[in-house]
Amino acid sequence: MSDPLHIVILTGAGISAESGIETFRSEGGLWEQYPIEQVATPEGFAADPALVHHFYNMRRAALKVVEPNAAHLALAELQTGLEARGGSLTIITQNVDDLHSQAGARGVIHMHGILTSLFCSACDHRFDWVDDVAHDMPCPACQTTGGPNKSVVRPDIVWFGEMPYEMDVIEARLRACDMFVSIGTSGAVYPAAGLVQMAGQLGKQTLELNLEKSQGSHFFDESRLGEAGTIVPKWVTEVLG
Ligand code: APR
Repeated sequence: MSDPLHIVILTGAGISAESGIETFRSEGGLWEQYPIEQVATPEGFAADPALVHHFYNMRRAALKVVEPNAAHLALAELQTGLEARGGSLTIITQNVDDLHSQAGARGVIHMHGILTSLFCSACDHRFDWVDDVAHDMPCPACQTTGGPNKSVVRPDIVWFGEMPYEMDVIEARLRACDMFVSIGTSGAVYPAAGLVQMAGQLGKQTLELNLEKSQGSHFFDESRLGEAGTIVPKWVTEVLG
């Protein structure tokens, strides 16, 4: 592979696994503990807002006790190194943890939202929040409150059936890059899982770094298997020479 200068990276839950954050589809993963339709759909939120807030409160609280791992740190180093030679790194993450930013990465695109943000479904006011959310929490902007079984303030998370954020920016970055790299994702959820095909159609180099073969491995020019904390720093050293 020739030396890439402008790289787009898509990350998934696997890059945060070694930081102690559960993935979704592994044995005993999050989707075995909590049915998707109950905690990750607008319908589930309407049916039982307290359960949904509990699910995200638990994951938001976990952020206070986890640290970025060697893979997150290596990507922040890659971004600095590429920019020093006039290049760029765009990190698009499916993850709703903030470990890329905690590791020093800049301009991270959270296409599925982020745990440390909430928004009001009455006035669309978005605001940072790192603590638990009660289902009857009033919106700090419009003061609308929930009711016994209705919550106006919701996690700023893209649920199934909703449109991921910044798809226009994502497509533009993909068109402008030299290389597309996928790290720690099962390739199970679109449109994220389709980015490798778009990159391939655009003639970009494509590389997958994952613990095991994913549903999209056959779309990549190259697939390297291993733990992100080991194979990502190794790859970054290769790229930065
Ligand atoms: N290093 C590298 N890869 C790992 C590691 C690790 N230490 N541990 C697990 N993996 C890999 C798994 O092999 C799997 O392919 O990470 C992937 C995690 O897959 P999922 O649990 O499906 O998570 P993800 O791909 O991020 O899910 C995508 O689905 O449920 C929705 O919105 C949710 O963003 C999520 C999306």
